[in-house]
Amino acid sequence: MTKSPVQFTLNGTETGVFVNGGANLLDVIRREAGDLAPKLGCAQGGCGACTVMIDGETHLACLTLAETVEGKRVETATSLANGPQLHPLQKAFVEGFAAQCGFCTPGMLMAAKALLDANPSPTREQVTEAIAGNICRCTGYEPIINAILTAAAELRGRISA
Ligand code: FES
Ligand code: FES
Repeated sequence: MTKSPVQFTLNGTETGVFVNGGANLLDVIRREAGDLAPKLGCAQGGCGACTVMIDGETHLACLTLAETVEGKRVETATSLANGPQLHPLQKAFVEGFAAQCGFCTPGMLMAAKALLDANPSPTREQVTEAIAGNICRCTGYEPIINAILTAAAELRGRISA
């Protein structure tokens, strides 16, 4: 099968891969680029474990054709930490016990990041809505929602400091 070149920015790094026609972005990120943050859950768009940001908006990588990210900016949960310094969302998830098995966490974090980028002061209902497509089998969601609200407050504090 003929492969096509695709170039995009992955977590700030220029990335070039050759993909088969119909290859999905999740496979390319994990297998070709070696970033294991986004997870393969359902492979059908139903769980959110594969959520990434493309040019600042959330997308399900399992349903995204890899060739459509040509020239775009793709971010996974790997982009959040600054070296050893956790992003406020990651810190709040850890401290608030919002991750148990952790399988949903990279997708949850990206859904939350997109929300807070667009709306630094979300209501509890808006947080709930933002993660509605992300399934968690462990936490019961309350710790996740609380962690996102905690991170939002910390990020607002940084801006006003
Ligand atoms: Fe993409 Fe479940 S793996 S939505
Ligand atoms: Fe286990 Fe969410 S922490 S699925």
